[in-house]
Amino acid sequence: MKLDLLIQNAKALIFKDGNIFETQTNVGAKDGKITYIGSSSPEALKIMDAKGLHLLPGVIDSQVHMREPGLTHKEDLETGTRAAALGGVTSVFEMPNTIPATTTKELHEDKINRIQNRASTNFAFFIGGSPDNAEKLAELEKLPGCPGVKVFMGSSTGNLLVEDDPTLEKIFRSGHRRVILHSEDEYRLRERKQIALDSKDVRKHHVWRDVETAVSSTKRLLALSEKTGRKVHVLHVTTADEMEILKNHKKLASVEVLPQHLTLFAPDCYERLGTKAQQNPPIREKHHQDALWKAIRDGVVDVIGSDHAPHTLEEKAKEYPTSPSGVPGVQTLIPIMLNHIHQGRLSLPHFVKLVCENPRWVFGCKSKGRIEIGLDADFTLVDLKKEKTIENKWIASRSAWTPFDGMKVTGWPVATILAGEVIMQDDQILHSNKGRVVTFTHD
Ligand code: DOR
Repeated sequence: MKLDLLIQNAKALIFKDGNIFETQTNVGAKDGKITYIGSSSPEALKIMDAKGLHLLPGVIDSQVHMREPGLTHKEDLETGTRAAALGGVTSVFEMPNTIPATTTKELHEDKINRIQNRASTNFAFFIGGSPDNAEKLAELEKLPGCPGVKVFMGSSTGNLLVEDDPTLEKIFRSGHRRVILHSEDEYRLRERKQIALDSKDVRKHHVWRDVETAVSSTKRLLALSEKTGRKVHVLHVTTADEMEILKNHKKLASVEVLPQHLTLFAPDCYERLGTKAQQNPPIREKHHQDALWKAIRDGVVDVIGSDHAPHTLEEKAKEYPTSPSGVPGVQTLIPIMLNHIHQGRLSLPHFVKLVCENPRWVFGCKSKGRIEIGLDADFTLVDLKKEKTIENKWIASRSAWTPFDGMKVTGWPVATILAGEVIMQDDQILHSNKGRVVTFTHD
């Protein structure tokens, strides 16, 4: 029986004996699954010659905001997943701070219904943890197409907030899957907001939302994780200080960092980009960025996500701090990180660990994340030598901009493949409705 797709001559990133190796091989797909890995060339309906290219398992972006429902002037499920596919991403896990926030079974199902036949990539939707649904979360976290529960400990875009330890403890005691958290201390944010209001200067964003704001919240969540035994995933960690603490809690806490925090730093980013560099938690000084890279090298960091958080340029142009926090990122995650690889900061196998292998166990999506017989035939094909300039005109997000506009990079995603079907090639979307709901295993 003919394969549906055979990718020939690529250097494939294959998981073997606990590690990821670059191996020259052919990879074939049939009925959406990987069915062939080897040196011969079985017959196939479609053959891709990938000589000189690297074949990665489909890249998973486990932190995106697609804004639907309620904020679709910024983004929607169609434009957001299209941007993801153009950027080489095959699956996105979407955040619950939409309007209304995704806090019930009905609202979760509404998102699944809305995205049918509109998704360029695979998708899943987090449930928002709140004081109102804390007791129901053990049920809600098991909904099909749900990667788990998301908690905002500090307020950001939207009204999801769990500021106090008793409610957080209630949430940790309701359910078993890893809880993902935005870690900023709401009490300290309130105490210090005047700094932002008085200055009206975005260069004060990381002074208002300072290191202690992040550290105190991360300490609190780790103490509750220890107390309850509940595993946690700390999103977009930005400080050297938190990394020192988190490295001693690896049994319970997995850690995410963002390309923005690995690439931009204060005060340069605020001087060049103004409020376009405003996000939560903030971009900080260079020594924090250096500590994030060290934490990657030391294995403290498990996952890289984009925190794709689109706002329109009009909104971003408002006077600080009324300007909203967040920057688009799903389309630039891979080019930015490949450029870091080109510059010698990270190896390609390590990158694959951070965006494929580790999301697989952190969230329990066992049919993805590896090039292995029987797993979903999702792939990201990249050209490590391709030189390109990231430009706003390439950005498919409705927000239509990127903080990396004008940046020259070496390394580019050249094809996105879902279930054995090529859906993006050479910056063109070939199919925009092949995305499917991601399935998870959990106890
Ligand atoms: O800067 C941010 N913007 N950080 C978040 O955590 C939320 C996001 C948004 O939704 O705009």
